[in-house]
Amino acid sequence: MSSKPSVLILGGLTTAARALGQFLVPDDAEALVSHVRFVDKYSVAPPTTYLGPRFTALLKNSIVDYQQANLTKEGPVQKCFDPPEGIQPFSYIFDLTGQVHISRTSVDLHIEQTATPAFFIGREAAKRGVKAYVRITPPYYQTALEKTAHQESDVIKPSEPVGTWYHEALRILANFPDLNLVIIRHGLIYGPWVVSGIVTPLMLLGLVYKELDEEFKSLWSPYVRFNTIHVDDVAAACWTAAEWMAKTGRAEANKVAGENIYFANDKNKVANVQGVPDPKIELTAPLFNLIDDTDTTLQTFGSVLTQVFGIKTGFHGLLHNTLAQMKTEEALEEINETHIEAWTRILAKANPPLQRTPLNPYMEAYMLEKRSFAYNGAKIKKILNFQLKYPTFGPDTIKGVIDSFKEDGVWPNVQWN
Ligand SMILES: *[C@@H]1O[C@H](CO)[C@@H](O)[C@H](O)[C@H]1NC(C)=O
Ligand SMILES: *[C@@H]1O[C@H](CO)[C@@H](O)[C@H](O)[C@H]1NC(C)=O
Repeated sequence: MSSKPSVLILGGLTTAARALGQFLVPDDAEALVSHVRFVDKYSVAPPTTYLGPRFTALLKNSIVDYQQANLTKEGPVQKCFDPPEGIQPFSYIFDLTGQVHISRTSVDLHIEQTATPAFFIGREAAKRGVKAYVRITPPYYQTALEKTAHQESDVIKPSEPVGTWYHEALRILANFPDLNLVIIRHGLIYGPWVVSGIVTPLMLLGLVYKELDEEFKSLWSPYVRFNTIHVDDVAAACWTAAEWMAKTGRAEANKVAGENIYFANDKNKVANVQGVPDPKIELTAPLFNLIDDTDTTLQTFGSVLTQVFGIKTGFHGLLHNTLAQMKTEEALEEINETHIEAWTRILAKANPPLQRTPLNPYMEAYMLEKRSFAYNGAKIKKILNFQLKYPTFGPDTIKGVIDSFKEDGVWPNVQWN
């Protein structure tokens, strides 16, 4: 049997799972693992979500398999842990599951798609005694707007149902005492072939404002933090954390890097949710923030848009005044309409014209609300010796992302004269 681990990557097909797969089984070097299985709700043939060219190629590799499964149910979760014939049991689990959309506000939805899968997957992994269980979690907490970047030990309130149930999932997982759990709380993910999230739509606004020939004005102070992380660094950090956990074990890892995974939910809402530990139980698990070195703020975004697209950017503009007089929803509809019209023109005048692209610059209400993503990323470097490959969020990294879409023919090539 191979001495390399066999790994299971659950969920995350729209976020970091594809980059993680490419990191573990690179095009141009030896694979780090003996086998990798992806499991998510999407079909990959034909694809029901955007995959990008490299991942599509990766799926043809003989040490890779993909299972489409409903991870909100116990049966399919158990089944995906059974390795293919002749393959050793999965020893590293990368849990990238959960409902990431901030705009979905139904509590039941987040329970079903975030808390429940974490419980089933964590329980199965604990039962099978896996060597490492890496859970990634998004930055949806009410972080300080300007002054503080939060440490892992800070008690910060999760934001909205999305953040609340991701946080609850951490408690559910931390409550399995023998699970070799390590948690990575990442910044806003961007990178090649990543179409979801906040960074890519914001970047596309560069094209939109170029087309509109208008200054792009952000609503909030330039100092509000929108801390970022390149998807390839998320992949590398997942691997580093798994290797560390496999040789360290949960008990020792808790001593070195354990944090109090505090209760931050409504007691009435958790009472009947499967797997949720008693709010009074104190739970500890190793937790690491993961952001790049740029300490990205709205000003950084503005500056990147200026450098990449040549548009003017500013703060507290027209939008701000408009919003002050309107409800967010109404303002958003108006903004949306302007953006969609411009985007349609861009696709039509692109060379060649684009009929279909997974890219879209539509704003959701939460993007207009005052919020921040402010974290301190020192701990993972210190304890895991982790080194970022993309420490800088700037024009070069964003051009790299644009090139990935160009490679796949989904980026609108437009010349403005
Ligand atoms: C997955 O299972 C849940 C729970 O039974 C169900 O509500 C949901 O519709 C299923 N999803 C799909 C895509 O079949
Ligand atoms: C903005 O546009 C997108 C795409 O058409 C749509 O899904 C969304 O609901 C719109 N939001 C508002 C508030 O109109």
